[in-house]
Amino acid sequence: MHIHPSILSADFANFALELSKLNAADAVHVDVMDNHFVPNLTFGLGVVEALRKVTTLPLDAHLMIADPERWAPPYAEFAESVTFHLEASKNPLALAREIRALGAKACIAIKPNTPVQSLVELLPELDMVLIMTVEPGFGGQGLIPETLQKVAQARGEIRASGLDIALQVDGGVTEDNIAQLAALGANVFVAGSAVFKNPDRDAQILKLRELAKAHAS
Ligand code: DX5
Ligand code: ZN
Repeated sequence: MHIHPSILSADFANFALELSKLNAADAVHVDVMDNHFVPNLTFGLGVVEALRKVTTLPLDAHLMIADPERWAPPYAEFAESVTFHLEASKNPLALAREIRALGAKACIAIKPNTPVQSLVELLPELDMVLIMTVEPGFGGQGLIPETLQKVAQARGEIRASGLDIALQVDGGVTEDNIAQLAALGANVFVAGSAVFKNPDRDAQILKLRELAKAHAS
């Protein structure tokens, strides 16, 4: 059960300080947004490279960007896992292979209205699947209840594949729903506002992880 705090909820002027307070995290979730694929803009490769220098935690890059074939591969140099969106990709199979060949874990994300079935044939190329539980673009939204059955379905497909693939959920994850998400089969939890609302980030991370562990499927 891995907790990945999203620095979308951190103080953008103090990333180094913010990262130094995340000792209990399993990785740092880094939301790259290009104002094309999603209606919001955050930061790009240069900032991720800079983050790499100020933390030893693995970086989990979530690329909410158009044309990932062009822009995603360089992130593999700085991030342990690189997630791109199925909806944005022209050749997801080749891109996942390229990310792995560059030495990072390959992950594909799907938005709330994209069916799990569209990912199934890609599973052999993936280390992680990301089920978005909100529409991507902004932190602090409420989890969309209809996405819960997709988490269960994705876990079922991963089990059926016999492959060792992590199942990540992102968007609206809180102490009120993390147990349910874990019971449905998620094992990597992104939490932005749910971690950063507590001045003691590590206490919050430990609390979320304990809740997830207690309800693991
Ligand atoms: C949303 C991002 C999320 C966001 C989650 O598009 O992908 O990673 O930071 O924030 P919370 O946990 O506040 O919903
Ligand atoms: Zn994200």
